[in-house]
Amino acid sequence: MAPRTTAGGSAEQLAKKQREISISEFFTKNRHLLGFDSPAKALLTTIKEAVDNSLDACEEAGHLPRLTVEIRNEEDTFKGLDLPSLAEGTGTGNGNGKSNGKSRATARNAPAREERYRIIVEDNGPGIVPAQVPRIFGKLLYGSKFHSLKQSRGQQGIGISAAGMYGQLTTGKPVIVYTRTGPQATAHRIALTLDMKKNEPVVLADDETIWEHDHGTRVEIVLTGSYKRGQHSVDTYLEQTAIANPHLHLTYVNPRGEKRVYPNATEELPESSREIQPHPYGVELGLLARMLKDTKCRNLSSFLKEEFCRVGPKTCEQILTTAELPARKNPKRLVQDDIRHLLDAISATRIPAPPTDCLSPIGESLVMAGLKSGVEADFYTSVTRPAAVYRGNPFQVEVGLAYGGELPGDELARVLRFANRVPLLYQNSACAITRSTLSSNWRSYGLQQSKGALPTGPLMILVHIASVWVPFTSESKEAIAHYPEIIKEIKLALQEAGRQLGRHINRRRREADAAKKQSYIQKYIPHIGDALQEILAIDDAEREDVVATLTDTLERSRKL
Ligand SMILES: Nc1ncnc2c1ncn2[C@@H]1O[C@H](COP(=O)(O)OP(=O)(O)O)[C@@H](O)[C@H]1O
Ligand SMILES: [Mg+2]
Repeated sequence: MAPRTTAGGSAEQLAKKQREISISEFFTKNRHLLGFDSPAKALLTTIKEAVDNSLDACEEAGHLPRLTVEIRNEEDTFKGLDLPSLAEGTGTGNGNGKSNGKSRATARNAPAREERYRIIVEDNGPGIVPAQVPRIFGKLLYGSKFHSLKQSRGQQGIGISAAGMYGQLTTGKPVIVYTRTGPQATAHRIALTLDMKKNEPVVLADDETIWEHDHGTRVEIVLTGSYKRGQHSVDTYLEQTAIANPHLHLTYVNPRGEKRVYPNATEELPESSREIQPHPYGVELGLLARMLKDTKCRNLSSFLKEEFCRVGPKTCEQILTTAELPARKNPKRLVQDDIRHLLDAISATRIPAPPTDCLSPIGESLVMAGLKSGVEADFYTSVTRPAAVYRGNPFQVEVGLAYGGELPGDELARVLRFANRVPLLYQNSACAITRSTLSSNWRSYGLQQSKGALPTGPLMILVHIASVWVPFTSESKEAIAHYPEIIKEIKLALQEAGRQLGRHINRRRREADAAKKQSYIQKYIPHIGDALQEILAIDDAEREDVVATLTDTLERSRKL
């Protein structure tokens, strides 16, 4: 039987339709993958990407971060804009500065102006070399962090350019960047858009300018968004960012012009995190093949020792003997079977765990300081676990608990999730942190908990995972994947902190019981006085003495 072909369905006809998909086109259609699936989330994601970058840059350069985040209702500033919008003729696709039909349509379809915001994020970081600005802000998948195993907030090189692209798509406005790399350098003001087809930047203006700061970066993105309060809001994200980054000084101005300052709780920068080489246990076949192809090492022995961590001469020899590969073989000459043997030999060899001093946790005392600055409670505790490893990547879990005080007693506990000090606000139920918290037994620490639910009580639970590579469930970096090693560590940290909380709750309970009993006794002391007066026929003054002595004894027993 001849194969059924519908109109336009032959291989030749299909071939005419088959073409490369540009990365920017892909993410334009799949913007939810990057966290731009609703106007409220888009506003948050944009701020998050810019703040993450500012904090990473400040820490890397050793500057105590001072950040300003402002959301301006663009209605107020729209007329003052001196740059042409895309709809007015800067072009989205051809990069030749001429207007095209598509961009006009984009602008025409842009939603109501009252939802148009200008996001401004300014830092006192090292600044960006002006020549790099276009690619950083106008090209997806361009960054300094993807290729290094180092604890940082960004990793994919997709964050800020995607935010700029979203702004451009919804308002037609370019991204504006002010940057200065030091007091001797001139500040630049660069306006740019992204050519969606080519995934290349289009610079509209690059001017030298006067900027009051010695060094730093200021990013302005105009976008269609929705400013809301509540659990998923920018306000919550910034509040939590201040908790997990006690070294950050943050000034935040919301669209209503209300200013809030989060002063830094410490003058000390976090311990700077160190870049490490990948651990052999973490590589998969494709990656190993790629590394063998790209390496500058001339023989297998130096390849293994130089490109991986924890491979010394002995381990190297063991791997190569098991793989039956000569130490002097050129890594580029390995065929598919050799690579497979090499990988099998790696998993058959005992290799020490990767170094863990490359991580920079918040630390127990600063987790408490962060919680204290964020919430008024009666009891705080924190636990920083020793570092552990998943798929060859070192990671470390920290837990902080705040209990009592102003926290609501009749609601489910609040869980604050963080990855490399970044608050995670969405995808709660998909996250390993949530799963570990739900499946912990909080009843054994004196809290109420229904099956499969969070505990009820005046409790805030902070969980932080620091890693050289955080395994997010998607590019939008909202939830942590369910690696068994990670779940185990979170649970151990929760247990350790939970036990301390349990002791506190028990103590409080005993104190409350004793206080109740005492108040009971207190009530009867005058009656005892009366009874004694009657039995012993003592006068009023003696009765008063007896009552005073009993009250005093009770009071002393309370203090004991
Ligand atoms: N405020 C900033 N100060 C200094 N460098 C920055 C700043 N923002 C971005 N960068 C640089 O631009 C790169 C790309 O940023 P981004 O697209 O967010 O990707 P990622 O943060 O995942 O690397 C960063 O890796 C960093 O080198
Ligand atoms: Mg980033």
